[in-house]
Amino acid sequence: ASTPNTQKSLIGFKAVPASSLDTIVVPEGYRWDLLVSWGEPLFSNVEPFKDGGMGSAEAQALQFGDNNDGMSFFPISEDHAIMAINNEYTNYEYLFPHQGKEMTASDVRKAQAAHGVSIIEVQRKDNRWYLVKDSKYNRRIHANTPMELTGPAAGHPLMQTSADPQGKRALGTFNNCANGQTPWGTYLTCEENFNGYFGSSETLNLSPETKRYGIKTKDAGYQWHAFDERFDLAKNPQEPHRFGWVVEIDPMNPNAMPKKRTALGRFKHENAALTINNDGHVVVYLGDDERGEHLYKFVSKQRYTPGNTAANLDLLEEGTLYVARFSSEIGKVSGRGEWLELSFGKNGLTPENGFNSQAEVMIFARKAATILGATTMDRPEWVAVHPSGKQVFCTLTNNKNRGKDRQPVGGPNPRAKNNYGQIVRWQPDQQDHTQTGFSWDLFVMAGNPEVHAGTAYAGSANINSENMFNSPDGLGFDADGRLWIQTDGKYSNKGDFSGMGNNQMLCADPTSGEIRRFLTGPIACEITGLAFSPDYKTLFIGIQHPGEELEPSHFPQGGNHTPRSSVIAIQKEDGGIIGS
Ligand code: FEO
Ligand code: CA
Ligand code: CA
Ligand code: CA
Repeated sequence: ASTPNTQKSLIGFKAVPASSLDTIVVPEGYRWDLLVSWGEPLFSNVEPFKDGGMGSAEAQALQFGDNNDGMSFFPISEDHAIMAINNEYTNYEYLFPHQGKEMTASDVRKAQAAHGVSIIEVQRKDNRWYLVKDSKYNRRIHANTPMELTGPAAGHPLMQTSADPQGKRALGTFNNCANGQTPWGTYLTCEENFNGYFGSSETLNLSPETKRYGIKTKDAGYQWHAFDERFDLAKNPQEPHRFGWVVEIDPMNPNAMPKKRTALGRFKHENAALTINNDGHVVVYLGDDERGEHLYKFVSKQRYTPGNTAANLDLLEEGTLYVARFSSEIGKVSGRGEWLELSFGKNGLTPENGFNSQAEVMIFARKAATILGATTMDRPEWVAVHPSGKQVFCTLTNNKNRGKDRQPVGGPNPRAKNNYGQIVRWQPDQQDHTQTGFSWDLFVMAGNPEVHAGTAYAGSANINSENMFNSPDGLGFDADGRLWIQTDGKYSNKGDFSGMGNNQMLCADPTSGEIRRFLTGPIACEITGLAFSPDYKTLFIGIQHPGEELEPSHFPQGGNHTPRSSVIAIQKEDGGIIGS
């Protein structure tokens, strides 16, 4: 029996059960509408999406990109807004009729056009949100869009290529995972698994610095290097240095060139959780999503001045990057932590250890973090700052390698062969995000109490048969402080994952620890990306890669249609606040 709780729960909806259906299920009293899907033309003179991979490269460059991920909402009036939405990658099994087996140069251009960011205007009419075709704001940013390199690494010899001898102008962004939003009205898009797009036409001996980022002479299967020599390491060995950054985009100005912010470090960026510290410094928390990689924090040099957009626009150009070291007593899932400064000349980041400038510290941030003794984490995905500003949460999605090699069990990574994941939470000392000390604990350890009762793999006390899930990934708060959790996990519904069904979205009360399932997605999708309308009465989320690897999904059109990643809008039928 539970103790009667006099405080009203933050969570007001009835939980939905696990589902393996090829559709979206939301709680009673809620509805969902489709906003936009992969291949939707942003302009009326562009050909419509064609099933079976039949669309052209030219059309894809002016259509909504594929595999939408992180997104932000920029209101321009009560019923109009601009949305910036990441298009992380593409699935060749659906992009091409030949499923990637007979690639051409034109196919590579189509794949490059399916990546990046889609900027769209949306409008609310009769209580539903729609894409505004032909809006002057509509814009596609993709793997060939010119970008400015800014910050300490801009212009460094390691950033120079034959096409850009100055090292200040990169082409494109891809594998845009999650995002961030600034109070000065810009969008942050984060480059994650950029390594997989590079390959080599010749045998090469790659440096340890290159290998640390997973770059190999054999690519991940995209085959760009065979048709576009920019991606051929034998011809352009420095090109990979120009990826793995956070990119700042002004969505209100379709002519503004995106800026890569090298002061935020180069790694496999997940999202950029930005908060304005009490003293005005901009603090951005950043995960590096790979097994055994690290968690970072950027603190701007200058301070935010409300209203002074011109000054704020370059706040991310200069600052200090830190990496986290957590206490790690085995069996203790709370403790202290410390942010270690990644500045050239300090903490061993010196020529003796291979660093000759701040540019090199940023370009090889992972190597610098190892020298400092940063904690190897269970794949840091999204970070979210509580609206009070006092606590920060990060999803550690899973890590099958925990317990091996240089990834010891302990601290916030307490389980060997961790295939369920957990969420770590910390509080900066004195509620000041520029402090180097913090206290941490685990908010939840996911698990399966049906299969693993009585062991750590059953999950923490707030996990039960009704809310179990695996691989927390997307994360965000609403204004009332509800924590929204999205999953990118195994959907077999068997073995360790039995009873969990398809990927899902949950809602948590950070005070009580309660977690309730809010939504289930279609077959083989991931739920990722979230944005609220300013009244918190519409929640936009992303349905990514339904039917990946040819699993039998036809979301959202049904019938025999090609499955398409989509953004949906969720509202309460009574017009209330989402989650209440
Ligand atoms: Fe693109 Fe780590 O997820
Ligand atoms: Ca993710
Ligand atoms: Ca993930
Ligand atoms: Ca994904």
